Amino acid sequence: DKGNYRHFMAKEIHEQPEVLGHTLSRYLDYAKKSVSLPAAEKVDFRSLNRILISACGTAYYAGLVAKYWFEKYARLPVEIDIASEFRYRETPVIDGDFALFISQSGETADTLASLRYCKANAAKIGAVVNVPESTIAREADVTFATIAGPEIGVASTKAFTCQLAVLACLAIHAGRQRGTLSEAAAAALVDDLAAVPSLAVQALNCETQIEKLSQPLSRASNALYLGRGTNFPLAMEGALKLKELSYIHAEGYAAGELKHGPIALIDENLPVFVIAPHDAIFEKTLSNMQEVAARGGRIILITDAAGDHESGGVAGDTVIMPNVPDLVAPIIYALPVQMISYHTAVFMGTDVDQPRNLAKSVTVE
Ligand code: F6R
Repeated sequence: DKGNYRHFMAKEIHEQPEVLGHTLSRYLDYAKKSVSLPAAEKVDFRSLNRILISACGTAYYAGLVAKYWFEKYARLPVEIDIASEFRYRETPVIDGDFALFISQSGETADTLASLRYCKANAAKIGAVVNVPESTIAREADVTFATIAGPEIGVASTKAFTCQLAVLACLAIHAGRQRGTLSEAAAAALVDDLAAVPSLAVQALNCETQIEKLSQPLSRASNALYLGRGTNFPLAMEGALKLKELSYIHAEGYAAGELKHGPIALIDENLPVFVIAPHDAIFEKTLSNMQEVAARGGRIILITDAAGDHESGGVAGDTVIMPNVPDLVAPIIYALPVQMISYHTAVFMGTDVDQPRNLAKSVTVE
């Protein structure tokens, strides 16, 4: 049931404040300001040496964000692969490896095959899954549920942000167990996560503006998405969403890679989305934007009030997000990124919930 929405995707985008709240409640102890994993989901991160993440598509981008978090907060090295590559490249899986699989459906063939590949040697197999009775959930030693509810639109939206919420909780938990995060530092991060549902509501408020700026986009034939840090995977996620929904060719790049090639693409016809909260590396991204502007590129900047102020009018359009702590930026900034592809596709008249050539669950290789 789409309720009052025109598409399942719109409904699922708007459900995010609520389902993020449900998902976080499962892993956070708000009173103690700590992460508390449900009894069936205990993992001892002290005994682990490495995390191997495999997933496909949007779930893979959630894993890429998690790599930044596990390495920063828990000092745990993470290797991440696209499942269709991991399963064939004969990578060594060794003692002390925690193999982690991320999947909305829990049925993706390549992700499942990667899980089975790790079974004999990994210390532990974990899965972040939205469908609790799925094959991947059943075959993992420990399943971390996302409580996103059924996701009907083919393009993943609420499952992605709920995956990020679970992975953030796991990274904080791992950091506490391994002693790399103090109790106070973890409590501050839990507070950041606790604010996610209300920040998501604020992020949704920019929808009217996004709808307006999406109209001219529907005439573009290419687009570029740029971000740094945890917003780099989000840039790739934005490009994937635009491709699959509006059939506009798009690429996501680490902003620092611009001058190593893609800057040659910049002209007045190329929309360049820049995902850049005003954080410690904003200055670096600002200089990338100036390079784009100097070549006539049309910048759509997604930032906060401080970033808007500092950017000094370099962007053609600016979408203003609430101020968000670093940890939760990729969760909150996912919402405008999703709305951009949704509204562009609506203007183009494509089948938003069922894009051509795509299936919701990819159970064939
Ligand atoms: C993109 C999208 C796909 C899925 C991918 C993995 O919007 O939905 O890229 O993320 O097919 O699917 P799951 O998460 O079910 O394993």
